[in-house]
Amino acid sequence: MSRIRVGIIGCGAVAQILHLPTLYQLSDLFEVTAICDLSDKVLAGVGDAWGIAARQRDYKDLLALDTVDAVLIANPNVYHAEVAIAALAAGLHVLVEKPMCITLEENDAVIAAQASAGKIVQVGTMRRYAPAFIEACRIVQGMDDIRLAKAHDIIGRNSLVIDPTSRVIKADDIPQSVSESLRRRQDEQIRAAIGDAPDALKTAYNMMLGLSTHDSSAMRELLGMPKRVLHAAQRRGGRSMTAVFDYGDFLCLFSTGADNIPRYDTYLAIYGENRVLRVDYDTPFVRNLPITLSITETRDGLSKTESVTHPGWGDAFTEEWRAFHNSLVSGEPAKASPQDFRQDLLLYREMIQHMAQEAGLPA
Ligand SMILES: NC(=O)c1ccc[n+]([C@@H]2O[C@H](COP(=O)([O-])OP(=O)(O)OC[C@H]3O[C@@H](n4cnc5c(N)ncnc54)[C@H](O)[C@@H]3O)[C@@H](O)[C@H]2O)c1
Repeated sequence: MSRIRVGIIGCGAVAQILHLPTLYQLSDLFEVTAICDLSDKVLAGVGDAWGIAARQRDYKDLLALDTVDAVLIANPNVYHAEVAIAALAAGLHVLVEKPMCITLEENDAVIAAQASAGKIVQVGTMRRYAPAFIEACRIVQGMDDIRLAKAHDIIGRNSLVIDPTSRVIKADDIPQSVSESLRRRQDEQIRAAIGDAPDALKTAYNMMLGLSTHDSSAMRELLGMPKRVLHAAQRRGGRSMTAVFDYGDFLCLFSTGADNIPRYDTYLAIYGENRVLRVDYDTPFVRNLPITLSITETRDGLSKTESVTHPGWGDAFTEEWRAFHNSLVSGEPAKASPQDFRQDLLLYREMIQHMAQEAGLPA
């Protein structure tokens, strides 16, 4: 059990740039024994580059191998729940990229499948495993004077960072009919989640699942689940949004957006009476970039001290995989569990209701 045999389902950008190098770095803990992708080109390129002989086009064939203990699910979001449920039924542990799924029904089905399989399921919100974030959580537990919090995430399109810094073998040999059925399935699932909403709300929901889940799940780990959503609105066709979460004694301002500037403007901040904490993240697509914890405080009300801590070299993805390994060995459930992800979906449902009201639509 100490060296886990991993099968990767979906071998695109995130698997090639982040997970495969991380698993190679952690080769005392993990061995990639099989890969699956719809694209023959990706299977051949990734399999040859990383010396992986078992290559499957259908994930069910990978799940049937007796050389796999756990799967990484890194194919498009619409398939995550289906594959996770099948992997659990096959007796495998699961690390599933975020978002774990699109609808609450899928979420509940994963929870039920996990309960009957008795296996670990961890959701890939890796920022929550960064040492700077964990230190912030420790400090926040002792703060009883929080007056404001912020979760801010404005990023440039991933390709602005990926194209100049990585070589990705692309699945450009997949028939167009497959891409069209993927789009149709995505539309159906988003409609199942939020109803027959205008395109801007569908885009906003997709942004929440794709990007905001990093921020909302970290916010919940830092501060707990808010009492309610006070405000949520979107602009620019759903690609830019704000929300205000009510924590009773304080509010958390939430903003998410994407633009064309090749940078990450991404942080969580907690404002206390005498101390402000801030965790800053950079793009995950360049490995090992520092994630820092800044503290501004006063001890005497006269002077101010500022510190910026980078608790050590290492990547959030590396810490995510170490945590997964610990859970597999100890049997302790992952903190980024399916039950935990459900809280994000509940928040997004409430945010969408506010967005619909704000746009004059029936909530
Ligand atoms: N944790 C993070 O910060 C982070 C960052 C980016 C992406 N992601 C997540 O990772 C996942 C993959 O994103 P990506 O950017 O690598 O996408 P991508 O489009 O680059 O890669 C997806 C791969 O899955 C393959 N695929 C499609 N359908 C498949 C199927 N039915 N079975 C097997 N393979 C299939 C495609 O051929 C492609 O190679 C998404 O869920 C995304 O949300 C997470």
